Amino acid sequence: MSAPGQLIPLRSSEDARGKLVSVEALRDVPFAIERVYYIVAHEGAARGFHAHKTLEQLMICVSGSCRIILDDGSRRVHHALDRPDQGLIVGPMIWREMHEFSKDCVLLVLASAPYDEEDYIRDYETFATEVGKAA
Ligand code: TYD
Repeated sequence: MSAPGQLIPLRSSEDARGKLVSVEALRDVPFAIERVYYIVAHEGAARGFHAHKTLEQLMICVSGSCRIILDDGSRRVHHALDRPDQGLIVGPMIWREMHEFSKDCVLLVLASAPYDEEDYIRDYETFATEVGKAA
């Protein structure tokens, strides 16, 4: 069983003018993109602390840095995101926490479905019970 979350390089064109990074649905990410949002957190804030039942996401730290902790119920992995040409794929039933936002951090998230509070599991014990049942 693979570790929770997959870091992927993003297609990037760099020249003397700078860098352009692109992401195409079903080519660069394994899902159709239905929603885009971004987080501009306060420095040092912690966010997340939930899992999604079905949602797939790609997280890109387009500015600054942050630490994403992913937990599949049996393993807990830390991912340091600090470059705009790298994405972190997070599938369903993965508990995520976001920590150590830098002052200049902007975390862009591409998601496979519209916002739906019913898709959230916000209690860790409930999450652990659900993934335990599926194992
Ligand atoms: P939430 O997902 O709990 O944020 P985080 O995991 O970063 O702590 O969302 C925070 C608030 O924003 C919550 O009231 C729901 C709202 N929200 C939307 O309206 N649309 C969205 O796409 C998302 C992700 C959140």
